Amino acid sequence: MTVMTKTDIPLVDLKAQYRTIRDEVRVAIDEVLEGMQLTIGPNVTAFDQEFAAFCGAKHAIGVGSGTDALQLAIRALGISSGDEVITVSHTFFATVEAILYSGARPILVDVDEKTFNMDLVAAAQAITPRTKAIMPVHLYGRTVDMKPLLALAKEKGLQIIEDACQAHGAVLDTGTLAGASGRVSAFSFYCSKNLGAYGEAGSITTNDDALATELRSLREHGQSTRYYHPVIGYNARLDEIQAAILRIKLRKLPEWNARRLAIARHYNDRLKNSGVIAPEIPEGGRHVFHCYVIRVPDGRRDALRQYLSERGIGTGVHYPVPIHLQEASAFLGYRLGDFPVTELLASEVVSLPMYAELTDVQVDAVAAAVAEFMRA
Ligand SMILES: Cc1ncc(COP(=O)(O)O)c(C=O)c1O
Repeated sequence: MTVMTKTDIPLVDLKAQYRTIRDEVRVAIDEVLEGMQLTIGPNVTAFDQEFAAFCGAKHAIGVGSGTDALQLAIRALGISSGDEVITVSHTFFATVEAILYSGARPILVDVDEKTFNMDLVAAAQAITPRTKAIMPVHLYGRTVDMKPLLALAKEKGLQIIEDACQAHGAVLDTGTLAGASGRVSAFSFYCSKNLGAYGEAGSITTNDDALATELRSLREHGQSTRYYHPVIGYNARLDEIQAAILRIKLRKLPEWNARRLAIARHYNDRLKNSGVIAPEIPEGGRHVFHCYVIRVPDGRRDALRQYLSERGIGTGVHYPVPIHLQEASAFLGYRLGDFPVTELLASEVVSLPMYAELTDVQVDAVAAAVAEFMRA
C-alpha cells in the first residue's frame, strides 16, 4: 500500500487550477498593469456584460465581494430598520451579516434534510406584516425550489433576494440559471468558489433597469456622475485585475461545473452502502457542487475527518455552528433546539475534496478511505 503524504488530496486545490490557465492569466494581468486603469475600466464593463449574459440576466454589477453584493441588493430594495428578512440558519455567516448591516431583522428558519436548503413551509409560516423579503441560499451549489418560493413571494408581496454566492451556473426549477429569476441575486467570487477571483470579488444580477442604475451608483459612493453624490453609497468596486481574471475563468466555468458534477456522481457511486449519507443529485443541472457534502451519522464525523487527515485527505465542515447559535447573533434570541435539522446537519456534515482538476483515481482514493473508516 502506498503511504500518502499530508497534502495529497486537499479539500480545494487552487494551484492545480492555476496551472491550467497560468499563461492566459499572466497576459491579462500584464495588460491591466500596462494600461494602469485599475478600477471600473474595460474589464469590469466587459465582465459585467459577460456575466449577465452567462446567467441570462439583463444586468450584472461587479462589486468587491459577495457580502457587498448582498448588502447593496438589500439596500437598493429599500429594506431597513423595522423590516424583517427571512433566511436560513444553515448558511455562511455573511448571509445574515448583510441583513443586519441594513438594520433589518433576520428571521431564521430551518432547512430540509435532503436538499440542505430552506424549508419552504417554515419560510411561509415565518411571514409577518414586517416581512419585506425572503433570502433563499442555494447552499453548496444546489438550487432552492424557486417556483413555489416565487409564487409565495408574489402572493404576499415580498421581494426575493437570491443568495447565489455558491451557485454560479446552477439551473433553477424555472429553467433559468441562478441569478436570472429573482429581482436581485448576489454572487461571491471568493477564491475557492466555482468561479473564483484571485482576491475578493462579487456581482449582483438583476433584470430591473432602475435597480441596476442604482446599484452601479451605490458601488461607487452613491455617485451619479463623477463627484456628484445624490445618495450615500459604498466603496464596493470590482477592480480591473480581478475582472480580467474572472473573464478568463468564466469561459471555463461550464466545463469545470460539468466536471464537478461528474465527480459528485463518481463519489456517490463509490460511497453507496458505505454507511455515510451521500448528497442527492437532482436532475437538470440543479446542483453545481460548490461543495460535495456527505453526512456521517452516529457522532462519527470528527473521527472520520481525523482518519482522512492522517491519510493526507483534506475535508471541511460547512458549517459547524449554525447562525442561530453564533455568539455574534445571540442577541437575536434564538436557542439550541430552535432548528433541529440545521443543528443535526451541523453535527454530521463533512465536505470532501471537490475541484474540477480532481482525478478519478483521487476520488476513488477518498471514497475508499471513507468506506474503510465506516467499516471499522
Ligand atoms: C452563502 C454565502 N453567502 C455569502 C457569502 C459572502 O461572500 P464573500 O465571501 O465574497 O463576501 C458567501 C461566501 O463565502 C457564501 O458562501
